[in-house]
Amino acid sequence: MDIGHSTITQVMVEEPAEYQKESSFSLIQHDLFEITLNGPALVLTILAIIISIQILQPSFTCTLLALAPLPWIIHNDYQNFINLGPGGTPSTFLGYLKIAFLRMFALSDPYTPAIISEKIYPIIGYYQKSHSWLPERAGPRPKIAGIAPQRQIDQAGCPEMYQKLRQTLERLALQQPDSFRTAMSCFEKKGLALFAQKPINETCRGEICHVHHSDRSMHMNLHPDDAKIVLEKGWGERHPLARGGWMKQYVPREFLMIYAPRNRSELDVVCRIIEAAGFWVSGEHFKLKVENEPTSSKNTTL
Ligand SMILES: *[C@@H]1O[C@H](CO)[C@@H](O)[C@H](O)[C@H]1NC(C)=O
Ligand SMILES: *[C@@H]1O[C@H](CO)[C@@H](O)[C@H](O)[C@H]1NC(C)=O
Repeated sequence: MDIGHSTITQVMVEEPAEYQKESSFSLIQHDLFEITLNGPALVLTILAIIISIQILQPSFTCTLLALAPLPWIIHNDYQNFINLGPGGTPSTFLGYLKIAFLRMFALSDPYTPAIISEKIYPIIGYYQKSHSWLPERAGPRPKIAGIAPQRQIDQAGCPEMYQKLRQTLERLALQQPDSFRTAMSCFEKKGLALFAQKPINETCRGEICHVHHSDRSMHMNLHPDDAKIVLEKGWGERHPLARGGWMKQYVPREFLMIYAPRNRSELDVVCRIIEAAGFWVSGEHFKLKVENEPTSSKNTTL
């Protein structure tokens, strides 16, 4: 039964104005906090410790010493969280605390596929079913930081390929409105996402994939067989919270980060991965084809 959801086929997704101008890559992450003491600073520090042991209780001095670096470490970590930009978690100290807690349960190895014991529907993955395959991604994997938001911080994606990908997703939704629509991402409440109109696997209201405006990487859900191939060929990695169980409330176990395409041939591979993600969510086969038209500036605000 149609309960009225399919009437909304197109939603314009506005990006914050400050992002539209940005063409270069600017997600800064600080290294671990470190300090260097020169000669006089070292003498002063030792003197301060000796005096404080004389004046205060030695145990109190020890506690002070042990806790001293903590504010800097937390500040550094918090700045890294804020620098990832907007995403699924509010950019507030409370949001930071939530992520700091969840980080304790993060996957230690995001490159190894999940071990699935139960029956999965569809039974076999898209690549096996369509006798298709993926090439190996060239070079080392990019550096990925954060949990929510999770972003790529080096090997910048190509801005033109990002625009082409957005146009391709929007065109697909326009051409096949019964099967697809584009809207704001349900997972991140930010960024353009492709949705299936009749999902067989709900993910987040039928979301197939979403693209990140800041770093041009993507998140999507894949059949475990397809996820394995994508991980092995180096096109992406698992989300740190995609371990199933009680963590399903945050992201599905099949949730993957796909790296930003650096040129046209990588964009074509990314389209093959989105086709597999679409198969997992909608059970349908479709072709995602990038048109060769030039990217117009009008479309960049959509
Ligand atoms: C695309 O980029 C990758 C990585 O930099 C490179 O190995 C590959 O040859 C490029 N392909 C084309 C067609 O330029
Ligand atoms: C999506 O598929 C997975 C794997 O088959 C299953 O565990 C999960 O329950 C499905 N979710 C929904 C909402 O259908």
